[in-house]
Amino acid sequence: VSGPKVIASLSNERVKFIRSLAMRKVRRRTGLFIAQGASVIVSARDAGWTPRILVYQLGTAERGIYLQLDRWAEKAQAERLEVGAAVLGKLAATDNPQTMLGVFEQRWHAPPQPRSLATDDVWLALEAPRDPGNLGTITRTVEAVGARGIILIGAACDPFSPESVRASMGSIFAVPFVRLSEDQFKNWVKGWQGDVIGTHLASTTDFRSVLYRGPSLLIMGSEGPGLSQQLAEVCTQLVKIPMAGKLDSLNLAIATALTLYQIRSAQLHV
Ligand SMILES: C[S@@+](CC[C@H](N)C(=O)[O-])C[C@H]1O[C@@H](n2cnc3c(N)ncnc32)[C@H](O)[C@@H]1O
Repeated sequence: VSGPKVIASLSNERVKFIRSLAMRKVRRRTGLFIAQGASVIVSARDAGWTPRILVYQLGTAERGIYLQLDRWAEKAQAERLEVGAAVLGKLAATDNPQTMLGVFEQRWHAPPQPRSLATDDVWLALEAPRDPGNLGTITRTVEAVGARGIILIGAACDPFSPESVRASMGSIFAVPFVRLSEDQFKNWVKGWQGDVIGTHLASTTDFRSVLYRGPSLLIMGSEGPGLSQQLAEVCTQLVKIPMAGKLDSLNLAIATALTLYQIRSAQLHV
């Protein structure tokens, strides 16, 4: 049984490598990403993921959940690194570093076969989302409502960025991600069997007045420009969330949550 490697130096090569995963180009090249915090790493374990690297603060892996996670990482033949608080703080690159950090392989899925879906299945498609905090919040909501997964269309931000992973609070390990160019999406969506619902500020249909024909595919527009004409054209329903104030739109994550809850309302019970 091999023990963890103890790293004291901030200039250690492994420390530099893990830090570099904060950069999108390094995540793209390596296919890896970082998740922080013991409870998030427990979500990864429970969802059947294993880490490539597990880093924890010196002395913490001797008891409780830390010991269990260390054993799990050892069984998975992950690299285990024990580091001081200063190194962990540098790796986390936040004001509030956690005592544990895992490096995992990103998972990308093929789009679902429309004919294989059940009537109450819901998929979410996001047109070029820009804000990773929104994307992480949406990921968490997709898990909460029991939707099947997220399709990212076009130039989307990275769901595996530190900000998105943090906002997803562990749901990054539960929600399948698909990425498609706009043309690939338009081709694939032709086979969709139920409603394709677009949320659009110019619609005059209240999102609560529609009977959604499943399987449902919900398409949300981008934070800046909103839903493009090209994607609005593939929708069978365009709906709007009414707003009382003098604002022009709701935040993307809020609008997504309201619409997903409406579509899934019959399937959700306390
Ligand atoms: C921040 S909004 C984009 C606003 C953009 N300026 C526009 O004109 O569409 C991002 C996305 O959230 C959804 N959204 C936000 N508020 C909405 C509302 N009241 N009704 C329907 N969709 C809404 C739409 O999908 C929109 O494309």
